[in-house]
Amino acid sequence: MSPLPRSAPAVRRLMGGQTPPPLLLLLLLLCIPAAQGDCSLPPDVPNAQPDLRGLASFPEQTTITYKCNKGFVKVPGMADSVLCLNDKWSEVAEFCNRSCDVPTRLHFASLKKSYSKQNYFPEGFTVEYECRKGYKRDLTLSEKLTCLQNFTWSKPDEFCKKKQCPTPGELKNGHVNITTDLLFGASIFFSCNAGYRLVGATSSYCFAIANDVEWSDPLPDCQEISPTVKAIANDVEWSDPLPECQEISPTVKAIPAVEKPITVNFPATKYPAIPRATTSFHSSTSKNRGNPSSGMRIMSSGTMLLIAGRACVTLTVLLMVLVTIG
Ligand SMILES: *[C@@H]1O[C@H](CO)[C@@H](O)[C@H](O)[C@H]1NC(C)=O
Ligand SMILES: *[C@@H]1O[C@H](CO)[C@@H](O)[C@H](O)[C@H]1NC(C)=O
Ligand SMILES: *[C@@H]1O[C@H](CO)[C@@H](O)[C@H](O)[C@H]1NC(C)=O
Repeated sequence: MSPLPRSAPAVRRLMGGQTPPPLLLLLLLLCIPAAQGDCSLPPDVPNAQPDLRGLASFPEQTTITYKCNKGFVKVPGMADSVLCLNDKWSEVAEFCNRSCDVPTRLHFASLKKSYSKQNYFPEGFTVEYECRKGYKRDLTLSEKLTCLQNFTWSKPDEFCKKKQCPTPGELKNGHVNITTDLLFGASIFFSCNAGYRLVGATSSYCFAIANDVEWSDPLPDCQEISPTVKAIANDVEWSDPLPECQEISPTVKAIPAVEKPITVNFPATKYPAIPRATTSFHSSTSKNRGNPSSGMRIMSSGTMLLIAGRACVTLTVLLMVLVTIG
């Protein structure tokens, strides 16, 4: 962008080379804003866009800050803005560079503090991790990740392994059930032999405390059930009987999961004139199930049909009689 024309020759150029009448020249000069000290549009910076804040002009001392394009990050310590001074913008170097994303989050390790506030990770940059609580370092594997050429992080090895809790030992007159392992996060379950009662926790889990791992609960006691109780316990064994699983009663089972037509049969003996009336009804909604009024509704509409049927038969008989007479 060139600065606004301020001199008479510039105005003459504007008018197509002709000398404008003096009055028009005066008017033009008055109408052109005082552009002294204004800067033009801020310069282009690679991989960045200026934040113009909606400004149309850039007077002396205006500061314009740039934002890096997506996938680019500001290089720390480099200027990211320009200042309008004496008609000119200050110099700005290329300050946006490609960067890896924030380093991969690992369940077994966390990024060392010194990198946690950083967001610029150029190609070849390495970051270090430290093991999380409950994990210990596997020194045979590297704890570093590198920002690769394609700006992704190198694949992490599992350089921290779960710590193991001490072996729980034997549970006298009982059993320790190790379902998975004794590693950080694992649970173990306790049970007592027949004739013994468990006093204490029924399970324990391996958790991290300070720089170590330990069991949440100690082994329980398996206490001998007392003689009087034992006498009964001899063939009963348990204080409470086992729960019984009974078949759901047929009436409960019979409740259909989906709407089902209800078939109502009307005995032929009661209304001999009608050919066996088998009528199907749909119960309106499942909410009506078990509601006595719904059954009554079915009955009344059935009766209506019967009356209609009876009238029809009467008419037929009447017609037949008329035909016979005729
Ligand atoms: C931008 O990154 C490249 C490597 O990708 C590096 O060589 C260059 O020095 C970086 N530029 C700045 C300004 O840090
Ligand atoms: C980036 O490069 C690495 C190593 O060259 C490769 O394993 C990985 O798949 C690449 N990732 C993408 C997203 O291209
Ligand atoms: C241990 O616990 C698991 C799961 O709770 C169970 O399947 C298994 O039978 C138990 N083993 C013993 C020896 O109690």
